[in-house]
Amino acid sequence: MIFIPIWDGSHGCASFIVGDDADGRAIVVDPLAAIGADTYILSAAEVGLKIVGVIETHVHADHHSIARELAQKTDLLVSMGHKAPLRDAFNPLHDGDQFDLGGVQVTVWETPGHTPDSISLVVTDKTRSSDPWLVLSGDSLFVGDVGRPDLVDPTPESTERAALDQFHSVHDKILSLPDTTELYPAHYGASACGGLFLSPKPISTVGYERRWNRFAQITDPQAFVTEVLSLLKPPPVDASLIRDHNLGSQQSH
Ligand SMILES: [Fe+2]
Repeated sequence: MIFIPIWDGSHGCASFIVGDDADGRAIVVDPLAAIGADTYILSAAEVGLKIVGVIETHVHADHHSIARELAQKTDLLVSMGHKAPLRDAFNPLHDGDQFDLGGVQVTVWETPGHTPDSISLVVTDKTRSSDPWLVLSGDSLFVGDVGRPDLVDPTPESTERAALDQFHSVHDKILSLPDTTELYPAHYGASACGGLFLSPKPISTVGYERRWNRFAQITDPQAFVTEVLSLLKPPPVDASLIRDHNLGSQQSH
Protein backbone atom coordinates (compact mmCIF):
# COMPACT_ATOMS: atom_id res chain seq x y z
CA MET A 1 0.00 0.00 0.00
CA ILE A 2 1.04 3.55 -0.64
CA PHE A 3 -0.48 6.03 1.76
CA ILE A 4 0.27 9.74 1.47
CA PRO A 5 -1.31 12.17 3.93
CA ILE A 6 -1.31 15.77 2.74
CA TRP A 7 -2.05 18.23 5.53
CA ASP A 8 -2.95 21.91 5.54
CA GLY A 9 -1.87 22.97 9.01
CA SER A 10 -3.17 26.52 8.72
CA HIS A 11 -6.76 25.25 8.58
CA GLY A 12 -6.26 21.93 10.36
CA CYS A 13 -7.39 19.93 7.30
CA ALA A 14 -6.22 16.53 6.17
CA SER A 15 -6.36 14.88 2.76
CA PHE A 16 -5.05 11.51 1.64
CA ILE A 17 -3.83 9.52 -1.32
CA VAL A 18 -4.40 5.78 -0.90
CA GLY A 19 -3.12 3.39 -3.54
CA ASP A 20 -1.36 0.21 -4.38
CA ASP A 21 2.06 0.38 -6.00
CA ALA A 22 1.75 -3.02 -7.66
CA ASP A 23 -1.66 -2.14 -9.04
CA GLY A 24 -0.84 1.45 -10.02
CA ARG A 25 -4.20 2.92 -8.97
CA ALA A 26 -5.09 5.33 -6.18
CA ILE A 27 -7.95 7.27 -4.67
CA VAL A 28 -7.78 10.78 -3.26
CA VAL A 29 -9.82 11.59 -0.16
CA ASP A 30 -10.93 15.10 0.84
CA PRO A 31 -8.68 17.06 -1.56
CA LEU A 32 -8.13 20.65 -0.44
CA ALA A 33 -8.32 23.83 -2.51
CA ALA A 34 -5.46 25.19 -0.40
CA ILE A 35 -3.27 22.37 -1.77
CA GLY A 36 -4.52 22.42 -5.38
CA ALA A 37 -5.70 19.68 -7.74
CA ASP A 38 -2.38 19.43 -9.58
CA THR A 39 -0.49 18.64 -6.37
CA TYR A 40 -2.59 15.49 -5.89
CA ILE A 41 -2.13 14.40 -9.49
CA LEU A 42 1.63 15.01 -9.35
CA SER A 43 2.06 13.42 -5.91
CA ALA A 44 0.30 10.28 -7.14
CA ALA A 45 2.20 10.24 -10.43
CA GLU A 46 5.53 10.59 -8.61
CA VAL A 47 5.01 7.17 -7.06
CA GLY A 48 3.53 5.63 -10.18
CA LEU A 49 -0.14 5.94 -9.26
CA LYS A 50 -3.07 6.98 -11.43
CA ILE A 51 -6.03 8.56 -9.66
CA VAL A 52 -9.15 6.44 -10.21
CA GLY A 53 -11.37 7.86 -7.46
CA VAL A 54 -12.01 11.18 -5.74
CA ILE A 55 -13.90 10.75 -2.48
CA GLU A 56 -15.27 13.31 -0.04
CA THR A 57 -16.02 12.14 3.50
CA HIS A 58 -18.76 14.80 3.73
CA VAL A 59 -19.84 18.22 2.49
CA HIS A 60 -17.28 20.41 4.18
CA ALA A 61 -18.27 23.64 5.90
CA ASP A 62 -14.86 24.80 7.07
CA HIS A 63 -12.74 24.89 3.91
CA HIS A 64 -13.11 24.92 0.15
CA SER A 65 -12.94 21.48 -1.39
CA ILE A 66 -11.24 20.90 -4.71
CA ALA A 67 -12.83 17.50 -5.30
CA ARG A 68 -14.89 18.63 -8.31
CA GLU A 69 -11.91 20.18 -10.06
CA LEU A 70 -9.73 17.16 -9.35
CA ALA A 71 -12.48 14.83 -10.58
CA GLN A 72 -12.86 16.84 -13.80
CA LYS A 73 -9.13 16.77 -14.44
CA THR A 74 -9.05 13.01 -13.98
CA ASP A 75 -12.29 12.26 -15.90
CA LEU A 76 -14.11 11.08 -12.79
CA LEU A 77 -17.22 11.87 -10.79
CA VAL A 78 -16.81 12.82 -7.15
CA SER A 79 -17.86 9.94 -4.85
CA MET A 80 -19.68 10.81 -1.62
CA GLY A 81 -22.12 9.41 0.87
CA HIS A 82 -25.46 8.98 -0.89
CA LYS A 83 -27.16 11.48 1.40
CA ALA A 84 -24.95 14.35 0.25
CA PRO A 85 -27.25 17.11 -1.09
CA LEU A 86 -24.87 18.04 -3.92
CA ARG A 87 -26.23 20.10 -6.80
CA ASP A 88 -23.94 18.33 -9.27
CA ALA A 89 -24.01 14.68 -10.30
CA PHE A 90 -21.92 12.46 -8.08
CA ASN A 91 -21.24 8.79 -7.47
CA PRO A 92 -23.28 7.83 -4.37
CA LEU A 93 -21.62 5.59 -1.78
CA HIS A 94 -23.53 3.33 0.64
CA ASP A 95 -22.68 1.60 3.87
CA GLY A 96 -20.66 -1.51 3.12
CA ASP A 97 -19.61 -0.54 -0.40
CA GLN A 98 -16.21 -2.00 -1.08
CA PHE A 99 -13.60 -1.57 -3.77
CA ASP A 100 -10.15 -2.93 -4.34
CA LEU A 101 -7.01 -1.22 -5.49
CA GLY A 102 -4.86 -4.29 -6.08
CA GLY A 103 -4.28 -5.72 -2.60
CA VAL A 104 -5.74 -2.67 -0.89
CA GLN A 105 -9.39 -2.90 0.07
CA VAL A 106 -11.45 0.16 0.92
CA THR A 107 -14.77 -0.24 2.74
CA VAL A 108 -17.30 2.56 3.08
CA TRP A 109 -18.99 3.05 6.42
CA GLU A 110 -21.77 5.57 6.82
CA THR A 111 -20.91 7.57 9.95
CA PRO A 112 -23.52 10.36 10.22
CA GLY A 113 -23.43 12.93 12.99
CA HIS A 114 -21.24 15.80 11.86
CA THR A 115 -23.37 15.78 8.69
CA PRO A 116 -26.06 13.31 7.55
CA ASP A 117 -23.91 12.30 4.56
CA SER A 118 -20.69 11.66 6.51
CA ILE A 119 -18.75 8.52 5.69
CA SER A 120 -15.56 6.89 6.94
CA LEU A 121 -13.25 4.67 4.91
CA VAL A 122 -11.75 1.53 6.39
CA VAL A 123 -8.55 0.56 4.58
CA THR A 124 -7.06 -2.93 4.65
CA ASP A 125 -3.91 -4.09 2.90
CA LYS A 126 -4.78 -7.73 2.28
CA THR A 127 -1.18 -8.56 1.38
CA ARG A 128 -0.23 -7.62 4.94
CA SER A 129 -3.15 -8.64 7.13
CA SER A 130 -6.88 -9.16 7.05
CA ASP A 131 -7.11 -6.64 9.91
CA PRO A 132 -7.84 -3.05 8.87
CA TRP A 133 -4.61 -1.05 8.71
CA LEU A 134 -6.22 2.36 9.07
CA VAL A 135 -9.48 4.27 9.05
CA LEU A 136 -10.08 7.63 7.47
CA SER A 137 -12.64 8.71 10.02
CA GLY A 138 -13.73 11.98 8.42
CA ASP A 139 -15.41 14.12 11.06
CA SER A 140 -16.67 11.28 13.24
CA LEU A 141 -13.87 10.39 15.68
CA PHE A 142 -11.10 12.97 15.93
CA VAL A 143 -7.92 12.83 17.97
CA GLY A 144 -9.21 13.84 21.41
CA ASP A 145 -12.61 14.95 20.15
CA VAL A 146 -15.56 14.24 17.83
CA GLY A 147 -16.96 16.23 14.90
CA ARG A 148 -19.41 18.93 15.93
CA PRO A 149 -23.06 18.18 15.10
CA ASP A 150 -24.41 21.70 14.49
CA LEU A 151 -22.94 22.99 11.23
CA VAL A 152 -25.65 21.73 8.84
CA ASP A 153 -28.67 22.75 10.92
CA PRO A 154 -27.96 24.61 14.16
CA THR A 155 -31.46 24.28 15.60
CA PRO A 156 -31.44 22.55 19.01
CA GLU A 157 -33.58 19.60 17.82
CA SER A 158 -31.39 18.89 14.79
CA THR A 159 -28.15 19.36 16.72
CA GLU A 160 -29.31 16.94 19.40
CA ARG A 161 -30.38 14.36 16.82
CA ALA A 162 -27.06 14.71 15.00
CA ALA A 163 -25.12 14.34 18.26
CA LEU A 164 -26.95 11.07 18.92
CA ASP A 165 -26.08 9.91 15.40
CA GLN A 166 -22.49 10.81 16.17
CA PHE A 167 -22.59 8.66 19.30
CA HIS A 168 -23.58 5.62 17.25
CA SER A 169 -21.08 6.37 14.49
CA VAL A 170 -18.24 6.69 16.98
CA HIS A 171 -19.17 3.88 19.38
CA ASP A 172 -20.84 1.33 17.11
CA LYS A 173 -18.63 1.84 14.06
CA ILE A 174 -15.20 3.45 14.56
CA LEU A 175 -14.60 2.06 18.06
CA SER A 176 -15.53 -1.44 16.86
CA LEU A 177 -12.22 -1.53 14.98
CA PRO A 178 -9.17 -3.25 16.51
CA ASP A 179 -7.01 -1.13 18.82
CA THR A 180 -4.13 -1.29 16.37
CA THR A 181 -6.08 0.45 13.60
CA GLU A 182 -4.48 3.78 12.75
CA LEU A 183 -6.88 6.73 12.88
CA TYR A 184 -6.62 9.53 10.33
CA PRO A 185 -9.42 12.08 10.82
CA ALA A 186 -10.24 14.84 8.33
CA HIS A 187 -9.32 17.53 10.85
CA TYR A 188 -7.01 18.43 13.69
CA GLY A 189 -5.67 21.48 15.48
CA ALA A 190 -7.42 24.74 14.62
CA SER A 191 -10.23 23.22 12.55
CA ALA A 192 -13.68 24.70 13.02
CA CYS A 193 -15.25 21.23 12.71
CA GLY A 194 -14.01 20.09 16.11
CA GLY A 195 -14.46 21.25 19.65
CA LEU A 196 -12.43 22.27 22.66
CA PHE A 197 -10.49 19.02 22.87
CA LEU A 198 -9.42 18.64 19.24
CA SER A 199 -5.73 17.72 19.33
CA PRO A 200 -3.09 19.47 17.23
CA LYS A 201 -1.81 15.97 16.51
CA PRO A 202 -3.28 14.75 13.20
CA ILE A 203 -3.10 10.98 13.73
CA SER A 204 -3.80 8.42 16.43
CA THR A 205 -4.95 4.84 16.81
CA VAL A 206 -8.37 3.47 17.68
CA GLY A 207 -6.87 1.98 20.85
CA TYR A 208 -5.37 5.24 22.04
CA GLU A 209 -8.63 7.09 21.45
CA ARG A 210 -10.58 4.30 23.14
CA ARG A 211 -8.39 4.86 26.21
CA TRP A 212 -7.99 8.63 26.23
CA ASN A 213 -10.68 10.36 24.14
CA ARG A 214 -13.27 11.74 26.59
CA PHE A 215 -16.10 11.00 24.14
CA ALA A 216 -14.98 7.40 23.69
CA GLN A 217 -15.16 7.06 27.47
CA ILE A 218 -18.84 8.04 27.56
CA THR A 219 -20.81 4.90 26.79
CA ASP A 220 -24.26 6.23 27.61
CA PRO A 221 -25.83 7.83 24.51
CA GLN A 222 -27.68 10.58 26.36
CA ALA A 223 -24.64 11.48 28.46
CA PHE A 224 -22.61 11.69 25.24
CA VAL A 225 -25.16 14.04 23.66
CA THR A 226 -25.26 16.22 26.78
CA GLU A 227 -21.45 16.43 26.88
CA VAL A 228 -21.15 17.27 23.17
CA LEU A 229 -23.82 19.98 23.38
CA SER A 230 -22.38 21.52 26.53
CA LEU A 231 -18.94 21.88 24.92
CA LEU A 232 -19.98 23.38 21.57
CA LYS A 233 -17.91 26.30 20.39
CA PRO A 234 -19.64 29.23 18.65
CA PRO A 235 -20.22 28.30 14.99
CA PRO A 236 -17.73 29.71 12.48
CA VAL A 237 -19.19 32.79 10.76
CA ASP A 238 -18.49 31.64 7.20
CA ALA A 239 -19.63 27.99 7.53
CA SER A 240 -22.83 28.29 5.49
CA LEU A 241 -21.08 30.21 2.68
CA ILE A 242 -18.31 27.63 2.44
CA ARG A 243 -20.80 24.77 2.55
CA ASP A 244 -22.81 26.44 -0.19
CA HIS A 245 -19.69 26.68 -2.36
CA ASN A 246 -18.94 23.01 -1.75
CA LEU A 247 -22.47 21.94 -2.64
CA GLY A 248 -21.80 22.56 -6.30
CA SER A 249 -22.13 24.63 -9.41
CA GLN A 250 -25.77 25.70 -9.23
CA GLN A 251 -24.89 28.06 -6.44
CA SER A 252 -27.41 30.50 -5.08
CA HIS A 253 -24.58 32.98 -4.56
FE1 LIG B 1 -16.34 18.97 8.59
